[in-house]
Amino acid sequence: MSADIFSKVHDILKSINEVKIETMSELESFRIKYLGSKNEIKSLFGEIKNVENEKKKEFGQLLNDVKQAAEDKFESIRHIIENKTGRADDFDLDLTAPCEPINLGSRHPVSIVMNRIISIFERIGFNVAEEREIEDDWHNFTAMNTPEDHPARDMQDTFYLRDSTTELLRTHTSSVQARIMTSQQPPIRIIAPGRVYRNETISSRSHCQFHQVEGLYIDKGVSFADMKQTLLYFAREMYGQKTNIRLRPSFFPFTEPSAEMDVYWGLNNEDDYRITKGTGWLEILGCGMVDPNVLINCGIDPDIYTGFAFGMGIERQAMLQFKITDIRQLFENDTRFLKQFSGVV
Ligand code: DAH
Repeated sequence: MSADIFSKVHDILKSINEVKIETMSELESFRIKYLGSKNEIKSLFGEIKNVENEKKKEFGQLLNDVKQAAEDKFESIRHIIENKTGRADDFDLDLTAPCEPINLGSRHPVSIVMNRIISIFERIGFNVAEEREIEDDWHNFTAMNTPEDHPARDMQDTFYLRDSTTELLRTHTSSVQARIMTSQQPPIRIIAPGRVYRNETISSRSHCQFHQVEGLYIDKGVSFADMKQTLLYFAREMYGQKTNIRLRPSFFPFTEPSAEMDVYWGLNNEDDYRITKGTGWLEILGCGMVDPNVLINCGIDPDIYTGFAFGMGIERQAMLQFKITDIRQLFENDTRFLKQFSGVV
């Protein structure tokens, strides 16, 4: 009897020493079996009464050794597994598994179109000028020959800052013209891309914030023909080498004469009829010869220098090029919309 029970305990000790434990759940089974409230070793202590008196001590000692072996094994394996996974749950780390896909960002359609415009003008010697979005009344309006009582200054169109009547969010990038002309003398050849703000009702076609690219070229003898040729070059680079343009007389306070430029979009399908309102032509930008008053306001002598300027909206061109029907999509930052432009440059 006594020999049987001794060999049973030796078997348990052997299996404690030999059992392979690699995961937390295996370790937990081990704990329940040998260290839990109803563990196998405990029940063996009850067998002591059946062991001959002279072997009782030896048997008790053996059981204590078994218990100790189970505790030691539990602690050392727990230490190994926790260090391996860095956390105390059942987690097998497979270093050879492929990693989660990394989501690369994509360029925003407004940036894509803006960058195209910038690179077209950079190729013919225009430099990028970036200026402040918080402007003062003088650079945004007065210097640009916009009279005090001009409706564009109205509280309804312009966001004034706090209670100020002079600090505002620029309503157009034309304010950069004034910034540049007051800080440097001709020759000036810049484009100014950036965000502008107007107090307009948000709809599918208009927003209270949008982007423009302004252009300004001032030097001796700059003519209307130079402007037309520059803008034709731009239209063809942007919309294809066969693109035709037309200049329609218009009015802007800061240019004289002023014009609006249309590109011929075509009338090939229903969409073309809709976006060109049945004319085939699309308005792209405003332009003109810089008004001598603007030059004088900014300290440039109009008897020596002439120049042309132009300004265009980006959102409308992005919407045309990418067939976006609602301008609000450009500002909502919905990744389902934005990721469609991944890889587009
Ligand atoms: N600033 C005008 C606007 O926001 C656009 C514009 C028109 C800019 C004619 C120009 C220009 O430089 O010559 O509507």
